[in-house]
Order: sequence, then structure tokens, then C-alpha cells
Amino acid sequence: MRRLAHISDLHFGREDPALVRELLADLRRLEPSLVAVSGDLTQRARRRQFLSARAFLERIPCPKIVVPGNHDIPLYNPVRRFLLPLHRWRRYIAADMDPVYVDAEMAVLGVNTARSLAFVNGRISDRQIALLRFRLCSIPEHIFKIVVTHHPFIPPPIPPYSIVGRAAKALTVLEECGVDLLLAGHYHVGYSDDIRSHHESVRSRILVSQASTLSTRLRREPAAYNVYTIAPPNLTLTVRAWNGKRFVTADTSHYKEIKKTWSRIEDSQARHEKGIESSPPLGKKRRK
Ligand SMILES: [Fe+2]
Ligand SMILES: [Fe+2]
Repeated sequence: MRRLAHISDLHFGREDPALVRELLADLRRLEPSLVAVSGDLTQRARRRQFLSARAFLERIPCPKIVVPGNHDIPLYNPVRRFLLPLHRWRRYIAADMDPVYVDAEMAVLGVNTARSLAFVNGRISDRQIALLRFRLCSIPEHIFKIVVTHHPFIPPPIPPYSIVGRAAKALTVLEECGVDLLLAGHYHVGYSDDIRSHHESVRSRILVSQASTLSTRLRREPAAYNVYTIAPPNLTLTVRAWNGKRFVTADTSHYKEIKKTWSRIEDSQARHEKGIESSPPLGKKRRK
């Protein structure tokens, strides 16, 4: 069993100090196996914001994997934006922007989707797709495989609709290599669904899960982060939301892989695991 915390869009420069303090306390209590951070660590990629982000990351008491977001590239300085887009990221956060974490039960691969020319949108390069194939396909089948990006593979329920560039091409590799879960942020909205809700050509089950923001840049929902309890074929998603004083459990969803499909199961079924009658597979009700 593994416990993974997924935090996103902290936007240092637009942070709430009390929230950041309680987030660290919540993570300490939770003791996750790993924390995945899916980009937009800063508001405007300024040196001081990166220093705050680094100080925060250093206080997370467990391994972590971190990828950049579009806000981690300078917006207003054209020299920095186009010639040194992630220079400060490399200097203050991490040299490797496509990081890898692997243990006996779980593999988590980060992919940098932030691009100077794409501005708010993101993209995966052909080189990154080839690297994903090389790395993922060499990991044994029984290990639960997760890919972390800033830009999502499926759009949010409410427009604007935009997904990471070359998503379809990347998905052929993710499917071939048996990826189980895709994590991202960017829209500051939490939502989860089967990849086939938006990509009908994909045949394998891949669960997509988006984390909300942990900054003050809210979009119609409170700041929150996600916790995944991974015990194949079961997966539990717990949303920890900020209530102004502390983080509390706002929602819990149980998923089970049944006949190569992620199905959401009821609380009682998850507890007892007897005679499971699944709800309709994910992705069947969603409209493109
Ligand atoms: Fe963001
Ligand atoms: Fe973003």
C-alpha cells in the first residue's frame, strides 16, 4: 500500500501563510510515501517567490517529485522568457524537470509541460514521449504507474477547454506502457474521470485526477489537495480542503479496477468488499 499526496498551483507570491503552515502540518500527520507537486510553484517566476517555494519544499518531510508550470516561466521579461525560461527553476528548485521516483509498489514520473511559446498552454515534446516509453516500459507490470504533468490530459467540466499539446500521441505510449493514473493541475479545479471520457480511442483504463490550487487564486471552490491510497486493484481518492483554519476531508471516492475499467464503488462496498456491484464505468456520462 502506498499513500501519495498530490499538491498543485501553490503560486508563491499569492500564497496564504496560514494555509501553507497548516498544509505542512497536515502532510506531517499524513506521512505520505511521496508528495507530487504539479507545477505553478510561483506566481511570476520571481527570485523571491522561488526562494519561498524552495523553503516550503525543504520542509516537506518525505520524498517529493516536482514539475514546473506555466507560471514558473517569467512572463514580462522577454529575455528571461525566451532565452532562460526555466533558469530560476533549475537554480532554486531542481535541475531535472522530468524527474522519476520508483519503489517496490509505485512509479511516479514527472513531465515538464511548461513552454515559453505556448504561454498559458503546455506541451509534451517527441523527446519526452520517447523518454516516457523508455522509462515506463522497463518498469515491471505489477508496479502502479503514475505520470505527473502541470497541464491536464482531459479538460475541466467548465470551460475554458484546453489540454496538454500532443496528448493523443503521448497517450499511445502511456497506454502501451500500462500507466494507471495521470495527475495534473493548472485549472485550479479538482476533478477526476476515466481518460476515455475525452479520448475515445484509448482502450485501456487510465484514471485522470486533477488537483485544485493551494493559493489564493481560487476558481469557485476552496483551496485543496488530493491524497491517493493505492492498494491495487483499489484506489481511494481523498480531497483535503482548506476551511480557513485547517485542512479537512471534503470528499472521498473509492475506485476499483474491474475488467480493465476503473469503477467508482460505494463507501460500504469499499469497506466490506463483498459482492461488489459497480456503478457505471467512469467516462460513460461525461460529455466532450
Ligand atoms: Fe496555476
Ligand atoms: Fe498553470
